[in-house]
Amino acid sequence: MTAAEICVVGVGYVGLIQAVGLASFGQRVECVDLDPRKVEMLKRGVPPIFEEGLEEALADVIDRDLISFTTNIADARSADLFFVAVGTPTSDRTGNARLDYLDAAISSIAEIAKDGAVIAVKSTVPIGTCARFQARLDRDHPEKSLHIVSNPEFLREGTALNDFFNPERIVIGGANEVARDRVRASYAGFEDRGVPMILSDTSTSETIKYAANAFLATKVTFINEISDLVETVGGDIDQVARGIGLDSRIGPQFLKAGPGYGGSCFPKDTLALATIGRRHGVQQQIVETVIRINDSRRFRILKRIEAAMGDKISGKRLAVLGLAFKANTDDVRDSPAVDIVHALLEEGAEVRSYDPVAKFSVDHRCYSQHESIAAACEGASAVLVATEWPVFKSFDFAAIENLVERRYIFDMRRIIDLGAAWATHWDIERIGSPMQKATA
Ligand code: UGA
Repeated sequence: MTAAEICVVGVGYVGLIQAVGLASFGQRVECVDLDPRKVEMLKRGVPPIFEEGLEEALADVIDRDLISFTTNIADARSADLFFVAVGTPTSDRTGNARLDYLDAAISSIAEIAKDGAVIAVKSTVPIGTCARFQARLDRDHPEKSLHIVSNPEFLREGTALNDFFNPERIVIGGANEVARDRVRASYAGFEDRGVPMILSDTSTSETIKYAANAFLATKVTFINEISDLVETVGGDIDQVARGIGLDSRIGPQFLKAGPGYGGSCFPKDTLALATIGRRHGVQQQIVETVIRINDSRRFRILKRIEAAMGDKISGKRLAVLGLAFKANTDDVRDSPAVDIVHALLEEGAEVRSYDPVAKFSVDHRCYSQHESIAAACEGASAVLVATEWPVFKSFDFAAIENLVERRYIFDMRRIIDLGAAWATHWDIERIGSPMQKATA
C-alpha cells in the first residue's frame, strides 16, 4: 500500500464521508480515530453510522486499497494534508462549543506532520478559532511551517454521500494561498465540473458555516410559525409553502412545517452563533428568537395533542411513530420526537414507540420501543407521527384499526394520506391545518 498523502482525523459522520469521498477519487487516505472499536469495525468495512450507500462506497475504496484506518496518528506521517473532523459539541446551555477534541487533534498532528503540511478544519468552530490555532502552531512549532485552513462541510445526514459528490459550493478559508491551493487540489474533480469555490480568510469561512445553518433553521422556524397561524385562521400550510417557495428569491426548500428543527447541527450551531454574537457585543437577535421559538415548539405541540384529544393525556397509552430527528437517519440527538416522548411521559402518559432504524431508550416503566408499527399501536388512544419516514406514508390503517383503543392520528410531519385515513374512519389532526373536532 502506498503512503497516504491525505489524513482524516476523526471518523464520525463528517470525517468518514470525507475520507470515503476523497478516496473514491483515487486519493490515498489514512483515517485516524481514538476509538479502537470504531477503527476495528471500519477495517472490516462496517460503517459505525447508518448512511445510505456508505457501506458499498467503503467496501469499494477498501478493495482498491485507497483507505486505511488506525488509532495511531504517527501512521499518517507521510500526509501533507490533514482534515480534522472531530466533534465540537455544546459544552453547556451558554452555547460555547467545546474545542478540547479539536485542540488535542491539532496538537497531535503538529507533533508528527512534516514541514509545510496543511491542517484543514472541517469541524464547525467558533469564528476566530482557526486564526487562534494558527498563532499557537506558529509559537509552539517554530521548527516547521504548518498551515491551518477552514473548510466547513454542508452535508446532511441521510443524504451525506450524495451531498459530498454533488456539492453546491466548496468553501476554503486560509491566510496562506499555497495551503488553500493544497485543499483546493483535493477537490479538483469538483472544480472541473464547475462547482463554485469560495476562497476566503478563515473568519469568513467560519462565519459562512454558522450563517448557513442559522439561516436554514430560521427558514424552518418561520414556516412553523406561519403553520401555527394557519391552524387558527384556516388554510393549508403546504400550499402556503408552495405559494411562497415558487418565488425564486425564497426557494422551495426548508419550508416543510413540522415539530421543529433538531439533530446534531442546527440546535448546536444556532446556540453557538448566538453566544458568539453576545461575546462580541453584537447580539444575533433573529437567531436568539429562532432558538426560543424552536425550544417552545415541543410544549406547544403537547398542548395541541391534549386539546385535540379533548382530555388530559395522563394515564393514556400513546404510540409515537418515528424517533430519529428526521427520516433516513438513526440519529436521535436533539430529536423533537424524543423530546415529545419525554414530555408525554412527564404528563403521565404511557408511550410505545416505533422507528424503522433509530433506537431510543429511557429508564421509565411507562416507555417501550417496539419492532413494528402494529406492536407500537396496540391499545393506543392516539398515534403520533413524529418523523417523516416513508414507511409511515403508506400507513395501513385497516391493518391496525382493531388494535388501537381509538382511531386517532396526530401527524406532526403531514405525511399521512388523508383520503386513506378518512376512508377507514380515522380522526386525523395535522400540524399546519385547523383542528378538527375529534370524536371520542
Ligand atoms: C444540517 C444542514 O442542512 C447541513 O447543510 C449541514 O452540513 C449540517 O446540518 C451540519 O452542520 O452538519 P442535518 O442536521 O443533517 O443537516 O439536517 P437537515 O436536513 O438540515 O434538517 C435539520 C432539521 O430541520 C431536522 O430536524 C428537520 O426535520 C428539520 N426540517 C428541515 C424541517 O422541519 N423542515 C424542513 O423543511 C427542513
